[in-house]
Amino acid sequence: MKAFIKTKYGGPEVLQLMEVDQPMVKENHLLVKVVANSANPADWHLLRGKPFFARFAAGLFKPKEKIPGADFAGIVVETGSKVTNFKVGDTVIGETLLGGAFAEYVSVPASVCGKVPSNISLVQMASLPVAGLAALQALVTHGKVSAGETVLINGSSGGVGHFAVQIAKAYGADVTAVCSGRNVDFVRSLGADKVIAYDQENIHQHKGNYDLIIDANGNLTYADYKRMGKRGVMVGFTTIGLMMSTLIKKLFGGFPLIQFTAKANAKDLQTLADLVAEGKIRPAIEKLYPYKEIPEAISYIEAMRTRGKVVMQWKNEQNLTD
Ligand SMILES: NC(=O)c1ccc[n+]([C@@H]2O[C@H](COP(=O)([O-])OP(=O)(O)OC[C@H]3O[C@@H](n4cnc5c(N)ncnc54)[C@H](OP(=O)(O)O)[C@@H]3O)[C@@H](O)[C@H]2O)c1
Repeated sequence: MKAFIKTKYGGPEVLQLMEVDQPMVKENHLLVKVVANSANPADWHLLRGKPFFARFAAGLFKPKEKIPGADFAGIVVETGSKVTNFKVGDTVIGETLLGGAFAEYVSVPASVCGKVPSNISLVQMASLPVAGLAALQALVTHGKVSAGETVLINGSSGGVGHFAVQIAKAYGADVTAVCSGRNVDFVRSLGADKVIAYDQENIHQHKGNYDLIIDANGNLTYADYKRMGKRGVMVGFTTIGLMMSTLIKKLFGGFPLIQFTAKANAKDLQTLADLVAEGKIRPAIEKLYPYKEIPEAISYIEAMRTRGKVVMQWKNEQNLTD
């Protein structure tokens, strides 16, 4: 099969498209023929081995997993002997955070996959796993959002943020969203009740008072959370220094603030697929690249100014039975 391979840490230029063996299917795994991937900041963090602490999981001197990529959408072509809840032909989405997805086939535990309706575009669905799970788990699992609450979403125009705005609205929240001035109309079109352009109003002096603050960008300080919110969830980070100082201040200050890494599970992936099927989430695909241009896609998202998501396509959806 074709796959992108990295044998050392570096930028997108270290990725090489090669022929490699198809992965083995373990007893609790699915073998999925990939239709599309999406790109996430985690892909370039792991590609570059930055920040350094990522290497404790990914390999100290060189990457343990040679194939990069987390998000995928595709079709099950084989199931492991112990898999009972999926069958060959199912259309699925899933994530494999440490890599393996930027390939024609990916073998992953069935527990990190969710079924998606076969009539929904897999290109659209490929945008969901990492960013959609982060948004859903920030709001629901950790943020415990409830209908009628006010929610501030900082970093609302990117992958995580644009899903978070739509999910918060689907759960009945009143949403104030923060993004750059160029994305105000986009974020309003996602359903945000109010939009703050951070290049026109200094968010670090904003006087709002919200039940829940979701920071998808990661530039809010501990003082920002305390000034503006009753509880908070930190999703993104801008610098390790700011993240650590915020968490240390939380330890002594007691403000209810949670920092987490989203975990794939069938239930949450199913919830995301249902929200898309019901028209409550519309993935916004800013750019669609052919698979051969996966390095270009990673290079594009490194600027951290993506509007919605970037997706890379392996197979033409009109011709899925090949
Ligand atoms: N905890 C987890 O499990 C988890 C999961 C996924 C992602 N993440 C992290 O979450 C962060 C966002 O990921 P993503 O996939 O959404 O990235 P993304 O698609 O690249 O989006 C980044 C967004 O940041 C916005 N931004 C840049 N400067 C900003 C500022 N000063 N104030 C507010 N927004 C600003 C940009 O919007 P404008 O262009 O409008 O400025 C852009 O839309 C990353 O740090 C990522 O590593 C964490």
